[in-house]
Amino acid sequence: MTASDTDWWRSAVIYQVYIRSFADGDGDGIGDIAGIRARLPYLADLGVDALWINPWYPSPMADGGYDVSDYRAIEPLFGSLEDAAALVDEAHAHGLRVILDLVPNHTSDQHAWFQAALASQPGSAERARYLFRDGRGPDGADPPNDWRSVFGGRGWTRVVEPGGAAGQWYLHLFAPEQPDLDWTSPEVRADVEQTLRFWFDRAVDGFRIDVAHALMKAPGLPDLRTDLDWPEAARRPEQHPHWDRDEVHDVFRSWRTVADSYDPPRVFVAEAWVPKPERLAAYVRPDELHTAFNFDYLRAPWLATPLRRTIDATLAQHATVGAPPTWVLSNHDVARHVSRYARPQIDQPVHSLQALLGRPADLDLGRRRARAATLLMLALPGGAYVYQGEELGLEEVEDLPDDLLQDPTWLRSGHTDRGRDGCRVPLPWGGDAPPFDFGPGDDAWLPQPESWRGSTAQAQREDPDSILNLYRAALRMRRELPALGDGELTWVESASDVLHLRREPGFACLVNLSQEPVDLPVGAQLLLASAPPAGGALPPDAAAWLADPT
Ligand code: NOJ
Repeated sequence: MTASDTDWWRSAVIYQVYIRSFADGDGDGIGDIAGIRARLPYLADLGVDALWINPWYPSPMADGGYDVSDYRAIEPLFGSLEDAAALVDEAHAHGLRVILDLVPNHTSDQHAWFQAALASQPGSAERARYLFRDGRGPDGADPPNDWRSVFGGRGWTRVVEPGGAAGQWYLHLFAPEQPDLDWTSPEVRADVEQTLRFWFDRAVDGFRIDVAHALMKAPGLPDLRTDLDWPEAARRPEQHPHWDRDEVHDVFRSWRTVADSYDPPRVFVAEAWVPKPERLAAYVRPDELHTAFNFDYLRAPWLATPLRRTIDATLAQHATVGAPPTWVLSNHDVARHVSRYARPQIDQPVHSLQALLGRPADLDLGRRRARAATLLMLALPGGAYVYQGEELGLEEVEDLPDDLLQDPTWLRSGHTDRGRDGCRVPLPWGGDAPPFDFGPGDDAWLPQPESWRGSTAQAQREDPDSILNLYRAALRMRRELPALGDGELTWVESASDVLHLRREPGFACLVNLSQEPVDLPVGAQLLLASAPPAGGALPPDAAAWLADPT
């Protein structure tokens, strides 16, 4: 890794480590920093460029660590600041960069600031860091407005004042344990910049920004005045009162100057669920964040027309601001793509487990499509994300016992939405029975299916045809082939349910989304395929990488 290599993020493949479920070093059934350190050789061998580690800060874990009680320390379950420093050093020694997760929209209700706000009076400086408001109605018994929590239920909780009387309300766009900060407060802004510097000073290479589109709220916190859900509400002509407001960009411009003051400059990736590619492009203007997750691509079905539509819109919008796109298939908030692709595909965006339940699944088909989707994703211009376990072809665990579900969505939806635990099941590393070498103990915090016996990293390492070895080969080739990574793409004319793209010099990717075999182009040399071609033709639900000089 060289300091002059400052553009690494334009082509990077970044592996997402959901720390609780990646690898357990101390045997308590919960993943930790020691577990990550022990598996760095695996990640280096896989061929990714960087890790993004989900929040590892002290947290009561009301939302899997996205409720942070101290931004400049490490959750004891995961390790210590010394362990974190050792991890960053060792990752760098393996040529892997490290990106952390910044949660700026809300803190934990156990954060010292929120505890001080609860102990203070309405109108105090302590409350001004959050969004405390008087309620409506004669006794202030109704919430200040009609905003909802993303996890279900109202977005406001009423507090008991220090004297014991029913008091003000505070806003939480997520769980009640995650009070929203007030981003008009200079103190909030200064404190988060200090957190950036704290970790940048410790050689961390960048940050993923949690709900980047949520920070600013409309002055006066007006009602939504409609029960339209986001993103449908984005079709309204006026701005939404709390998602994707223009004022957020000011915050990011200021962070960019902090990142650019380091050598090498540090980088950001935005988590911004915005409904239009042009709105996403605004987050990655040259003086703002570097990249943003492409959730339109993640949500696209396994159908040629919507995939090509999404790719084209993404490329066109990113070109207007000169930023590289990213391509993502799964993460810790969505049903794993093997299980999404295992269902009959319709031209509708899908990401949650709830949308899949009750629809018949063919997991072998889902896995074939997932292999092909990997080759397509890694052939596209820009960077890509790999969510831990997708390189093992893991499926969503759809039948976790109700009493083990931990996602606040399950509780807050009145047990109607099973939430996101099914994509967070601890990884199977080796052995024949759960917990599949997840750690030295007998436990894993969520149970793994017995059927993962054949999916362990160890079992797949020995199988030349495994999906793990497909990822390894593709990532190795991606580094070697000058055509791949950042750059341009052109489409080659093809049947409507086939995607055929070219990258220069001399590379092509053919993806067969039809029901019939498709002939490989004459004169092209096969570099890699997600399924073996037969008689010069690529089977359905398969992709091939080709050296194609024409
Ligand atoms: C997005 C994170 O990815 C998700 O896991 C979390 O629940 C919300 N933001 C709230 O922080």
